[in-house]
Amino acid sequence: MSFNNESTLREIAASGPAAARVLEEAGVDYCCGGSHSLQDGCAGTGVTADEILARLRASADEVSPKDADWRSSPLAELTEHIRQKHHGYVREAIPRVSALLEKVKAKHGANHPEIATIDALFHQLGQEMIAHMQKEEIILFPYIERLERSKNGGAALERPFFQTVRNPIQTMMNEHDGAGNLAKRIRAASSDYAPPADACASYQRLYGELREFEADLHSHVHLENNILFPRAVELETE
Ligand SMILES: [Fe+2]
Ligand SMILES: [Fe+2]
Repeated sequence: MSFNNESTLREIAASGPAAARVLEEAGVDYCCGGSHSLQDGCAGTGVTADEILARLRASADEVSPKDADWRSSPLAELTEHIRQKHHGYVREAIPRVSALLEKVKAKHGANHPEIATIDALFHQLGQEMIAHMQKEEIILFPYIERLERSKNGGAALERPFFQTVRNPIQTMMNEHDGAGNLAKRIRAASSDYAPPADACASYQRLYGELREFEADLHSHVHLENNILFPRAVELETE
């Protein structure tokens, strides 16, 4: 697979998890900003498009054959993967990170007022994510799965109350932007997750967990915005 400066971040990230990882590690926004070209997406990251292209070539050699190709697998497998891997992770990470925040705030909050800011932002992000995932699991994903079954010869589909799948998808994408922005603000408030010199072990773990939370959010939103949603729209149009 060959990419160039004008390739969109969406097509690069959708080519496989190794490519998505290269973008993630370089700090390029490939999930909410998936429609940008590689050239534009590199602006402000400190990494050039040429460097990314070189890393993509190197990473292509490490792609595990076990990595599913979500561009062609059944959509029901993709929605199940998102539920298990990403929604499952978010649900177990929120209480863990919240407890760490509580602890670090009690110990270091006086010297590090940014912890209270991060705590408030993470609390909001957690609440929004829980409500968001519920909508996906109760309304959107089951509809996409029914759409696929009816396409494969199952029962004809009644018109849903939201008329077309584009409507809930648009709502979900707006919510992804909101969550991405909250994560960005947490990153800024924590100086890119760099613990201060006097940070204890819990403080360091907290920043590690927050970094992981943002990285997981990026691959989660990428699978939905760049793969699941466009494929669902295409299926509905057919
Ligand atoms: Fe999701
Ligand atoms: Fe989502």
